[in-house]
Amino acid sequence: MSLLITGGTGYIGSHTVVEIQMLAASEGKEWDIVIVDDLSNSSTKVLDRIKQITSKSVTFIKADVCDYDAMNTLFEQYDIEAVIHFAGHKAVGESSEKPLNYYHNNVSGTVTLLRVMELHKVKKLVFSSSATVYGDNISPLNETMSTSATNPYGQTKLMIEHILFDLAKSDSDWSIACLRYFNPIGAHHSGLIGENPNGIPNNLLPYVAQVAVGRLAQLQVFGDDYDTVDGTGVRDYIHVVDLAQGHVKALQNLDKITGCKAINLGTGNGTSVLEIVNTFKEISQQDIPYKIVPRRLGDLATVYANADLANELLVESNKKFTNDD
Ligand code: NAD
Ligand code: UD1
Repeated sequence: MSLLITGGTGYIGSHTVVEIQMLAASEGKEWDIVIVDDLSNSSTKVLDRIKQITSKSVTFIKADVCDYDAMNTLFEQYDIEAVIHFAGHKAVGESSEKPLNYYHNNVSGTVTLLRVMELHKVKKLVFSSSATVYGDNISPLNETMSTSATNPYGQTKLMIEHILFDLAKSDSDWSIACLRYFNPIGAHHSGLIGENPNGIPNNLLPYVAQVAVGRLAQLQVFGDDYDTVDGTGVRDYIHVVDLAQGHVKALQNLDKITGCKAINLGTGNGTSVLEIVNTFKEISQQDIPYKIVPRRLGDLATVYANADLANELLVESNKKFTNDD
């Protein structure tokens, strides 16, 4: 049986492919992995890197998930049992400049994928959602809280979640894990795969890393007047390999889920910008020059997960879970 991974040559997708090959094989479930990616934000170079790490090959198909015929052909060609759906655009700022691109790619792409899955009676899905759907709720954030979004990127994640909940309500054969990621960071310990954003990074960790290697002169710390430990923003940074292993666990536990279940993937701990800078400095022994600048529009003071459900569902229990309301 094959596992389809959309967006599998991207940052989180590539780490997940590696963890599925390593962990799932050691637990006796071998998957034939089929990656579909349009390479809009990644490169096929990562396929060789995955092979170097795992000694296994994957099937790669260059296609756009919005292309119904291409997706249908793929499902005709391969005996797909389940899908992990990473493919999507993810830049918050760009989503406000090009909202139609984001609604088309993320929402229409997902609807196209779901229609093809339904046609081929493939009803197991792990979806990449985001903590951004919690809007300005107070942390720790748990899955029963209300959801809202403040930018088109966040809206696409929220709309897709609603589509998934409605779909699962309409047909109880679906098992969907809707994983709400907090802040993924880091890279595989081999150094062969990692995050390599084009242009100037928006996110904190890649920015700090580029200051550390001298590619960028200094970090701008967006605000030091928040009500936090040192006045700078607090986030829940989760290592990308832990996040990837969360997908393996979700896949292995899909049969416990009837319907669609939202699950946080975070550590449950918050870390401030200055704590990150100081730790990075200490470990890398590199200076990280920074300057405090005004707050970034749309930023919240503190965002971190309540990670109990992931522990309960993905790590510990035999409990069964049904649809979220
Ligand atoms: P990424 O850009 O590295 O990976 C996404 C991959 O999808 C890329 O390889 C890109 O080429 C591909 N893609 C985009 N649109 C496509 C389409 N229409 N058809 C086929 N392939 C397409 O991003 P990532 O950080 O690995 O994120 C993966 C998923 O996780 C995304 O859906 C993102 O919104 C979500 N997410 C990411 C973060 C984060 O901080 N990285 C946080 C929360 C949620
Ligand atoms: C951002 C996105 C969010 C996305 C997440 C992970 C926004 C509003 N939100 O979240 O939707 O899911 O990335 O990709 O863009 N910081 C600095 N200087 C910098 C960069 C960041 O001080 O140059 C601070 C920020 O103010 C924040 C923290 O570092 O307090 C983390 O920022 P970032 O990495 O951009 O992630 P989020 O803002 O949490």
